[in-house]
Amino acid sequence: MELLYEGKAKKVYRSEVPGQLIMEFKDDATAFNGQKRGQIADKGSVNAQMTARIFQWLMEKDIPTHLIRRLDDRHLLVRQLTMIGLEVVVRNGVAGSLSQRTGLPEGTAIDQPVLELYYKNDALGDPLINDDHVRLLHLASPQELAAIRRQAMQINEWLRPFFQERGILLVDFKLEFGWFEGQLMLGDEISPDTCRLWDSQTRERLDKDRFRRDLGGVEEAYQEILKRVMT
Ligand code: C5P
Repeated sequence: MELLYEGKAKKVYRSEVPGQLIMEFKDDATAFNGQKRGQIADKGSVNAQMTARIFQWLMEKDIPTHLIRRLDDRHLLVRQLTMIGLEVVVRNGVAGSLSQRTGLPEGTAIDQPVLELYYKNDALGDPLINDDHVRLLHLASPQELAAIRRQAMQINEWLRPFFQERGILLVDFKLEFGWFEGQLMLGDEISPDTCRLWDSQTRERLDKDRFRRDLGGVEEAYQEILKRVMT
């Protein structure tokens, strides 16, 4: 298979069918824009399976995604999207950079979800940007950005109860979108790498913050999330 792209956590190969790609999920873990590096055993497998499960479930709710099907433990067959250079973060609680930016303590509840836009640019460290910057950088037109915001909020409305039923608080998560034949589609992944997931009862962190903050029990947390999500 021809390798098209290798990122921090994934490799992307061309498939035999034009317009389709194969995504391979790696065990490599990075944090703080690549400054911290390591491996999380079986992370690739957890993230591929969880992404496939959640994207399938979202598609049943009429949210278009790039997923065609899961090929095996680590590989997904996906549509080739023209990616939008944005990371869209939706927050239901205060954590991470929102806590640092606002001074609000982690764990503070939020009445209405907060949506943030980040410019996907490694060299700049993925800075927070606003709607005018999106227009300035030609990342999306105002109409397209409105559709992206609507879609991200709708996904949050579906995912919150999905996780809640499984004893998990969806604190925040990051989405990436792209275009396929004129249609806005959810791309990339939804996994413990890209979400903050806290146990509803104990508030224990079951996500990549265990790696970022050296909390231990990283592999166990990923396996626990996979077990709950697959039910
Ligand atoms: O670091 P921050 O608090 O802004 O992260 C918000 C959410 O977005 C977290 O769930 C984090 O895992 C996710 N994120 C991501 N990729 C990035 C930055 C943040 O998946 N490059």
